Formats: sequence, structure tokens, C-alpha cells
Amino acid sequence: MAPRKIIIDTDPGQDDAVAILLALASPDEIEVLGITAVAGNVPLALTQKNARIVCELAGRTDMRVFAGCDAPISRKLVTAEHVHGKTGLDGPVLPDPVMALQDTHAVDFIIDTLRAEPPGTVTLCPLGPLTNIAVALERAPDIAGRIEEIVLMGGAYFEVGNITPTAEFNIYVDPDAAKIVFGCGAPITVMPLDVTHKALVTKPRNDAFRALDTPVGVTVAEMTDFFERFDKEKYGSDGAPLHDPCVTAYLIAPELFSGRHINVEIETVSDLTLGMTVADWWRVTDRAPNATFMGDLDADGFFTLLTDRIARL
Ligand code: RIB
Ligand code: CA
Repeated sequence: MAPRKIIIDTDPGQDDAVAILLALASPDEIEVLGITAVAGNVPLALTQKNARIVCELAGRTDMRVFAGCDAPISRKLVTAEHVHGKTGLDGPVLPDPVMALQDTHAVDFIIDTLRAEPPGTVTLCPLGPLTNIAVALERAPDIAGRIEEIVLMGGAYFEVGNITPTAEFNIYVDPDAAKIVFGCGAPITVMPLDVTHKALVTKPRNDAFRALDTPVGVTVAEMTDFFERFDKEKYGSDGAPLHDPCVTAYLIAPELFSGRHINVEIETVSDLTLGMTVADWWRVTDRAPNATFMGDLDADGFFTLLTDRIARL
């Protein structure tokens, strides 16, 4: 079976980095057509740099990295240095990238790629705020029908919010973009906090990364050592939730995940609940289902896959 062609849209972020590494370590299942950076965890100047750092860490200086939107569609950028550190990749000491950033804007790359590839053959994998995806959909509505699937990390329902009491960060940063994406009609699979908070990098799991004793394995362990402190303190959890790798793991082993095809709407008006993913988990409305909202994962299977693949780099 041919590998799935994907575009990773990302705001690295340590967990984004692991998601990208997992994709690049899995060429039999995933062909990364390009990586588009968006402002999110840290400003765009850092997310586009960090995306290139990760590609070089994986030995993929051939990968095309594009810079996208540096702010949400209509709101002020909110960043998350308190979680990811001032560089966005705090933890390991990593060299500045040498590989070039592409000249093309990320939104143009997304549009051009979806128009150039056969319809239904490209999957979009947003790992940060949905600004790039939404701007592409607004500028080129014809691409909505050409998207194979959008597999995104974002939102929360039973797990509630991580940046406000009701909103998850990626959706909260650009709720207007999220509303556009969730309303575009393309097949959508959502990895919300309900799932990602079950993907905890416990000490044994992080020790397994370090025990690979490879530059990538040790770097992933060092990223997690830094990244976990915020969530362990806030939630008293057993380790950092590896949010974004749930997206690329789903492409490789969907059987690790379970959820429901339901209606998900985005709050874009109320200041109190801005960015909330209103997931009709119990189907109490007649609103049409528009997304497969994941609720559970096989965490041991997830980490076995992740460790085996990271070992390949
Ligand atoms: O809320 C978690 C999400 O926000 C992850 O994608 C993390 O990288 C940040 O972007
Ligand atoms: Ca992210």
C-alpha cells in the first residue's frame, strides 16, 4: 500500500517535534510533502526555525519547510512559552538550522499542493492553531473537496480546557480559523485532550527513549524532561502528555485510537468560553456530525510504536 501523502502544519513545540520525527521515521506509511509553520506555541520566526531544526535532527535537510501566518485571522496571538520555553524547543541544546526556509508562503503551498495532487490523496495534519488551514480554505474554497482527511490535534470535551477552563490551546489561539476548518466539509479526525492526556510520558517511557542511546532518542528524552514540568505541576500527572504525536501515530496505527463521529462546533463569540469545542458526544442535538472525535487510545501500544520508530532515526 502506498504511503499516505501529508502536509504537517505545526508550531514546534516539543510535542510537535516528536510528531514530526515519528512521521519522518515512517516512510512506508507516510510521505511528508512539506511542513508548514504557523504561529502558536511561540512566534512564527521560531516555529519555522524549530521545524527546520527538527528536520535536520532527523537527517532530512531535503524536507521543504514553509513559513505561514504569524498571527490568528482576527485576534492577537497568544503563545505558550510557559510550557515550551522561550525557544519553543527548550530542553536539549540543538544547533541553529542550516537548511533553507522555502520562499513560498505556507498557505500558497497548501493550496498549490492540493490543486496539483489528485483529489482525495493529500491529508492535512495540523498540530497547532488552524490559521494556515483556514486562510487556505478561505482563499481557495475549491480545495475543501480535494482534501483526503484533516487529522488535527486540538479541542477537548470531558478533559475540558488547558489554556482556559473550557478551551484547548490550539483552538483557543484562533477560534475563528477553527470554525472555518470544522465547517469546511472535509473529513475531520480530532485528537483532543481527552485522548492526548492519556498519552503520558511516564518515567519508564521516557527512559526507553533515552535508552535508545541515539542522538534522536536522547533529544526526545531531553525535550520531554523539559516539557513535562508544566503538566506534572498543573495536573499532578505522571508525565507530559504527548499531544501532537497522536496525529501521526493515527496515520500509522489507527487501531490504537477510538472515538465517535459526532458534531463539533466552535465557540467564537463568548469571552467566557471562547475556543471551546462543543462536542455533541451524546448526540443530543440534530446538528450534523462533522468530525470523528477521539476519546481513548491504547497508550502502551502508542509508546511501543513511538519508541520503535524513533529508534530508526
Ligand atoms: O494544547 C496542546 C497543543 O497546543 C499542542 O499542539 C501543543 O504543541 C500546543 O500547540
Ligand atoms: Ca502543537
